[in-house]
Amino acid sequence: MAAILIVDDDAAMREALTEAVRDLGHDAHAAASGDAALHMLDRHPVAGVLLDLRMPGMDGLEVLRRIRTRPRPPAVTVLTAHAGAANTIEAMRLGAFDHVIKPIGRSDLSRILDAMLAYTSGVPNAAHQATRETLIGSSEAMRAVQKAIGVLADNDATVLITGETGTGKEVVARAIHDHGRRHDGPFAAVNCAAIPAELLESELFGHVRGAFTGAATDRPGAFRQAERGTLFLDEIGDMPLAMQAKILRALQDRVITPVGGKPAAVDVRVIAATHRDLTAAVRDGSFREDLFYRLHVVPIRLPPLAERIADIVPLAEHFLAQAGDKQLSAGAAARLIRHRWPGNVRELKNAMERVAVMVRGARVAAEDLAFLDQSSAADGAGIDWPDEDLPTALARLEAMLIRRALERSGGNRADAARRLNIHRQLLYAKMRRYGLSASDDRTTDVGEADDADGSETGKP
Ligand SMILES: Nc1ncnc2c1ncn2[C@@H]1O[C@H](COP(=O)(O)OP(=O)(O)OP(=O)(O)O)[C@@H](O)[C@H]1O
Ligand SMILES: [Mg+2]
Repeated sequence: MAAILIVDDDAAMREALTEAVRDLGHDAHAAASGDAALHMLDRHPVAGVLLDLRMPGMDGLEVLRRIRTRPRPPAVTVLTAHAGAANTIEAMRLGAFDHVIKPIGRSDLSRILDAMLAYTSGVPNAAHQATRETLIGSSEAMRAVQKAIGVLADNDATVLITGETGTGKEVVARAIHDHGRRHDGPFAAVNCAAIPAELLESELFGHVRGAFTGAATDRPGAFRQAERGTLFLDEIGDMPLAMQAKILRALQDRVITPVGGKPAAVDVRVIAATHRDLTAAVRDGSFREDLFYRLHVVPIRLPPLAERIADIVPLAEHFLAQAGDKQLSAGAAARLIRHRWPGNVRELKNAMERVAVMVRGARVAAEDLAFLDQSSAADGAGIDWPDEDLPTALARLEAMLIRRALERSGGNRADAARRLNIHRQLLYAKMRRYGLSASDDRTTDVGEADDADGSETGKP
C-alpha cells in the first residue's frame, strides 16, 4: 500500500480515480487544483501523483515542473484527454513518469500504479517552455516517438532516426532540437546522399584556405556551424566508408579536423537519419559496424504512415488547413485511410496541397481523391506484399482486416468485433497496438467504457 495523490479539477473524475486507487489497495488523497496539490505535498509525502493536465489556474505542466524541483519528487503520471505532441514531449521532458490518455480502465490504472511505485525518480530538469506544435500524430507509435523526444531533448545522446521516405525523420530531428536545451543554438542539416563523396569531408569538417584547388577561403563546415546546437546527418546510410571512419572519430572524441587544418574540439549534438536498413548494410559491408553501434545508442523508428492509421486524418486536416480552408468529407477521410501511402506523410501532404488547389467547393469529396492510385489496401487485392517476415506480414494483415471491419460497421467496435468473431476486449487491445481508432471516446468513467449498446458513431 502506498500513498497516491490525485490532482484533477473535474470532481467526477477525481472521485472515480480516488475510488479506483483505493480499490487497488492504496491510500488515495485528492486535490482539486495545482495549488492545493502542492500544499498537500508539503504535508503528506506521497509515492505517486496522477496529474490532470488542463486545469484552471496552475496547469498540470506547471504543477509537474514544481513537483520536479522538490528534493525527492514522487513519480508523476500525467493523465489527459487532450494529448498533443507539444504537451506529451514537454511532460516527458519535465520528468513525468508517463503521459496517458483519459479515460483509463482499471487494468491500465493498476499497471500505471505498479510501474510508478517501482520507479525511483531522477534528477529534476531546468525548465523552458516549448510551444511549437508541428509534430502531428496521436497513434500509439507517434505518441511513443513524442515521449522519446521529451526524454531525449535535454541530453546530448546521439540519436538515430530510421523510417521510410517521407515518414517525418527530419521533423522529428527538429523537434528534438526545438524542445531541448540547445534550442537557442543552430540546427544544421547535411544530406550525406546529396553531396559528392569528394566534397563531403569539407562540407562536414570544413577546410582551410589552399587545402585543395578551389579552396580560396577558409570554410567552417557543418560541425562548426552547428556549434552549441544540433547537427542533423541526413541519409547517413549513404555515406562513403572512408567518411564513416572520420565521422566515427568525430562522434567519439568530439574532435574534428578541417581539410588541411588542425584538430579542434566541437560541442555538437548529432542526430542521424536514414531510410536504409543499416543492419543489412552492416552485414553486406557497406556500413561500419562500430559506427552503427555508436549511432544506435538511442534509435527512433518511424513506422510507415499506413501502419499509423490514427494519424492519417489529423495530418490530412493539418495540411489542408495550411493550404486553405477546405474540409474533408467523411468519404474523403475513409478514402485517405484506405490508401497505402508509399510516399508516407510527404505523399499525403502533396495530395492535400493538390486538393486545396484543384477542388472548387469547400468540401473535399471522395471522388476528388481519385488521383490516389488503385493500390488501396482495403481488401488486400493488388498489394505487392513486401518481402517481410511472417509476424510482420500477419500483423499487417490483421490491422488491415480490423480496419475493414471497423469501416463496414461504421466505426461501431462491438459490431466490428462480432464480424471478426473476436472478443471486444481483444479488439480494443489490437486497435491500441495498431494505433487504430474508431470513435470519439469522451467517457470520463474510470471503469471500462461499455459500448455494447452500439450507440457509438463512427469517425473514419
Ligand atoms: N508528424 C508530422 N507532423 C507534421 N508534419 C509532418 C509529420 N511527419 C512528416 N511531416 C511533413 O511531411 C514531409 C516529409 O517529412 P520529412 O521531410 O521529415 O520526412 P523524411 O522522413 O525526412 O523523408 P526522406 O527520407 O524522404 O528525407 C515534410 O513536409 C514534413 O513537414
Ligand atoms: Mg529527410
